[in-house]
Amino acid sequence: MSVPSSPGESQRGAPRFFVGCEDDESESLDDCSMRTDMELYEDDEEADSPPERQIADVILNEPVDNWPLCDCLISFHSKGFPLDKAVSYAKLRNPLLINDLNMQYFIQDRREVYRILQEEGIDLPRYAVLNRDPDKPDECNLVEGEDHVEVNGEIFQKPFVEKPVCAEDHNVYIYYPTSAGGGSQRLFRKIGSRSSVYSPESCVRKTGSYIYEEFMPHRRHRREGVHGGA
Ligand SMILES: Nc1ncnc2c1ncn2[C@@H]1O[C@H](COP(=O)(O)OP(=O)(O)O)[C@@H](O)[C@H]1O
Ligand SMILES: [Mg+2]
Repeated sequence: MSVPSSPGESQRGAPRFFVGCEDDESESLDDCSMRTDMELYEDDEEADSPPERQIADVILNEPVDNWPLCDCLISFHSKGFPLDKAVSYAKLRNPLLINDLNMQYFIQDRREVYRILQEEGIDLPRYAVLNRDPDKPDECNLVEGEDHVEVNGEIFQKPFVEKPVCAEDHNVYIYYPTSAGGGSQRLFRKIGSRSSVYSPESCVRKTGSYIYEEFMPHRRHRREGVHGGA
């Protein structure tokens, strides 16, 4: 029987997760559920309880050398999270990485997310990008009609969806056709129990770069009307 060449590789070739630093102390998922010595996150809601708050303080304020040791690491970027430090920590301690930290840089841009999804053959609504970038004037052609927009030559009839290119910006707007009364639904990151508000504004935003895409109706929309959901 061959010996696993790395802590993540089992004798059967299937991934195994190890707990503990030394090989002889290690237990695999075959024997116990996975335990991590540390979870790293800085999420407003989850970092509220005292232990989580303490860990968040360490992550934010201490150099990575002072971070507690952990066996495996899962780490998602969100506003305020020190991704560079998480990358340095991974280099320093070499924990088993559950997700690819470097990809966290790319997926902060919805254009990049869509490019990756397309590359992987995952279906997406038809979309176009309006780049308000002075260096790329040919990517900034917007013609607006009462019931449609034309983005770099591509037409989107209402209802359509307008998303900031920054994936951290959850201010996604959905524009209603005049036949449905016009106006728009402004989605945002949940505040209390609300995640969207109706606006009588029917014209698209004129500053910033956006993705425009077809509206895909789904069951929840039919039942309750359009919702936000960051
Ligand atoms: N093309 C679409 N058609 C219909 N609804 C959409 C579409 N895109 C987004 N939505 C609605 O808007 C919400 C937020 O969009 P999403 O792309 O998930 O942005 P965020 O990154 O802010 O979560 C979704 O959960 C969904 O309810
Ligand atoms: Mg979402």
